[in-house]
Amino acid sequence: PTIYVITPTYARLVQKAELTRLSHTFLHVPQLHWIVVEDSPSPTQLVSNFLADSGLTYTHLHMLTPKDRKLQEGDPHWLKPRGAEQRNEGLRWLRQKAAADGGKGLAFDSAVIYFADDDNTYSLQLFEEMRYTKKVSVWPVGLVGAMKFERPVVENGKVVRFHTGWRPNRPFPIDMAGFAVSLNLVLANPEAWFDGNAEMGFLESSFLQNLVTMEELEPKADMCTKVLVWHTRTEKPKMKREEALIKQGLGSDPNVEV
Ligand code: UGA
Ligand code: MN
Repeated sequence: PTIYVITPTYARLVQKAELTRLSHTFLHVPQLHWIVVEDSPSPTQLVSNFLADSGLTYTHLHMLTPKDRKLQEGDPHWLKPRGAEQRNEGLRWLRQKAAADGGKGLAFDSAVIYFADDDNTYSLQLFEEMRYTKKVSVWPVGLVGAMKFERPVVENGKVVRFHTGWRPNRPFPIDMAGFAVSLNLVLANPEAWFDGNAEMGFLESSFLQNLVTMEELEPKADMCTKVLVWHTRTEKPKMKREEALIKQGLGSDPNVEV
């Protein structure tokens, strides 16, 4: 089965570095189709050129987050969901392509969808774990929720609850990196989307609650005992010296892409 990886991404100093790291992981994964969705009003040169040279099979989309749904300078990072409109655009593209194919191609391949943010760290084993997803598969995520890891708790092969430190009664207290869904399930549930207005921590639930119940979740990574993905977050680079140099007319050459 093909794995369709949907990645929201937005312009910032570390964007090309993040995409480079991610693409080098994906180059090692067979049958991976990368759906990159830029949070921008149109495709950017940087991402277009990057993808063309990446060596990956990809689709390049864009969907600007409406201003009232977007974090503003100075907002705490958790105030509004990030990447929701971009993931929905990826889902829209997949549904439209499946409809155009008349269900052939895309769907009969029992393809899988995974939402991979551009800043996390993914092991290669993770992709083989998710590849044979029937409905929704789940596994632990490291370094998330202010804990060493969060994970579904498995008893007798079934998910019975979730190991998490915060609001464990959310419908699905799982980070975006901790699940994959089958394309057929998404096609069978056309009302399943991410709610860009979801309360903090409820974005994943807004999508999953239209697709499965906890009992139906398929535990992977040795019954959720192994951490194969890490919710790493990249530090924002300091530009103090750059700004000082710009004032003296000695800033770094703006024609050099970083
Ligand atoms: C956590 C989860 O891991 C995310 O999957 C979830 O979307 C997010 O919380 C949330 O609750 O909205 P976090 O590390 O805080 O993630 O979020 P980011 O990594 O900053 O953003 C998630 C994705 O959205 C990234 O791929 C990022 O490039 C993209 N993004 C972020 C945009 O497309 N536009 C933005 O303005 C910000
Ligand atoms: Mn992140």
